[in-house]
Amino acid sequence: MNREDFVKEVLYDEETLQKKAEELGKQIARDYKGKKIIVVCILKGAVMFATDLIKRLDLPMEIEFMVVSSYGNSTKSSGVVKIIKDLDQDIAGKDILIVEDIIDTGLTLSYLLENIFVQRKPNSVKICTLLDKPSGRKVDLPIDYVGFTVPDAFLAGYGLDYAEEYRNIPYIFIMKEEIYQNK
Ligand code: IMP
Ligand code: MG
Repeated sequence: MNREDFVKEVLYDEETLQKKAEELGKQIARDYKGKKIIVVCILKGAVMFATDLIKRLDLPMEIEFMVVSSYGNSTKSSGVVKIIKDLDQDIAGKDILIVEDIIDTGLTLSYLLENIFVQRKPNSVKICTLLDKPSGRKVDLPIDYVGFTVPDAFLAGYGLDYAEEYRNIPYIFIMKEEIYQNK
């Protein structure tokens, strides 16, 4: 398949995404000045954004990866979060920045916040998401840093997948409905 077969519209091109990572990186570095943070990248979706963001983060930091699954191969959130890979370190007393690709229903992160992060008694926990889709929200969730607020459409590229594909596309696009409606 060629890119024109599944791309309905390019929402954010590579340059726009790089600029946003730089802007958020500067803001986060200002807010945490004098501290060291633990950046938790939620895999797999946040991988591209998290790596671009930390390159722009002028702060002492460590990166951690967490693999969670909430979607299966469908385009709707199930609300069931399974931890497939946990953090490698104890986060008690530390300053944690969770980095996500997109927050839709909010179920994944609110589960993680309450059942994992808060329980482990960090000094602080903040959330940074590249994309926020407020139209899908089912639970209240405090989000500290948002890259872009996006429309109610299924997006892919730059880490975001549909059935595990399209994560390698360097821009974020709205997917043609026929790609996922025929499945
Ligand atoms: P939530 O629990 O509904 O907030 O879902 C969060 C997760 O669902 C994200 O980390 C993504 O992996 C996935 N997701 C939500 N919306 C989209 C989308 O438009 N495209 C691709 N993945 C999505
Ligand atoms: Mg994700």
